[in-house]
Amino acid sequence: MIYSWQELSKQVEAEINAFDFSGNPNELYDPISYTMTLGGKRIRSTLCLLAAQLFGGDLKKAMNLAMAVEVFHNFTLVHDDIMDEAPIRRGKPAVHAKWNRDVAILSGDVMFVQAYQLLAKGNPEKLSQMLSVFNQTAIEVCEGQQFDMNFETRDDVTAENYIEMIRLKTGVLLACSLQLGAFESGATEKDAKLIYEFGEKVGIAFQIQDDFLDCYAKQEDFGKRVGGDIISNKKTFLMLTALEKADAQQASRIENLMTSDTTDEQKVSGVLEVYDELDIPTAAKSAMQNYFDESLAALNQIEATADLKQPLVELAEMLMMRKK
Ligand code: IPE
Ligand code: IPE
Ligand code: MG
Ligand code: MG
Ligand code: MG
Repeated sequence: MIYSWQELSKQVEAEINAFDFSGNPNELYDPISYTMTLGGKRIRSTLCLLAAQLFGGDLKKAMNLAMAVEVFHNFTLVHDDIMDEAPIRRGKPAVHAKWNRDVAILSGDVMFVQAYQLLAKGNPEKLSQMLSVFNQTAIEVCEGQQFDMNFETRDDVTAENYIEMIRLKTGVLLACSLQLGAFESGATEKDAKLIYEFGEKVGIAFQIQDDFLDCYAKQEDFGKRVGGDIISNKKTFLMLTALEKADAQQASRIENLMTSDTTDEQKVSGVLEVYDELDIPTAAKSAMQNYFDESLAALNQIEATADLKQPLVELAEMLMMRKK
């Protein structure tokens, strides 16, 4: 039988709920179980299992790898919320807001190590390959995060710079998750490369949608602070496209909102007004669609039957349509 992505994401959720994240001192471990059990879409772990299924692997064995990428992802969120000064995550206070910054740093560090503990349970024959992609990914995510912060105060960021930044901060982890599942299941080198490429492209499309939702989601659906990217002067696809399309008057309105001390609310609504005048949502959706199409082109080249690829296509489609 072929599992749907929904079924596999339920299996991940059950695994997380059964996992014991507690420990002593509880000041260190409570934020870990808090983060891990707050929900979340479980995309990376589900992708890992879907890739394992695609290449005929044992899903039970792949579950440790799925857990590794999920714990790693959650670690990045704990630290990301410190860096972005984000107050809420998944509808609840972010770790640094509920506890404090020091706790968020240290609990995050433990999660990073726990991810390796889980990874080490992977197929012993494939471990060196797995470690290599995981290490490379962990470093690249940090590179992406640093570019993301650097861009906040730069005014010469191009669309190309932005795509490379989101490939690093987001794309490579989706790609790595899929490739780990592929390695575990003994995929050929060619297919392991193609599934990585699929993930990278889906990841870029996914981050464009994340940036879109940051502006246009309903607060109650989103679970993060809507407008947060505008408030922190993030150079998102929407902002860069707006700056590129803006006439002199619109450009100076954005410039003023970014530099003068308006309230957060005025800043967000002022920038959104310019976005609407310039039809920025349409531009973002079309860029996202292009990367989605490229991802499918990679998936198509993989040696596997269409019915095994279908759950991956459906998950990717869900990611483009999602509201949170
Ligand atoms: C949020 O990822 C961080 C990004 C790379 C945009 P998700 O949107 O997958 O977060 P959860 O795990 O579902 O909350
Ligand atoms: C986060 O990007 C990417 C990583 C955590 C590596 P964002 O900063 O856009 O993620 P959210 O929107 O806070 O989830
Ligand atoms: Mg953030
Ligand atoms: Mg961030
Ligand atoms: Mg975001």
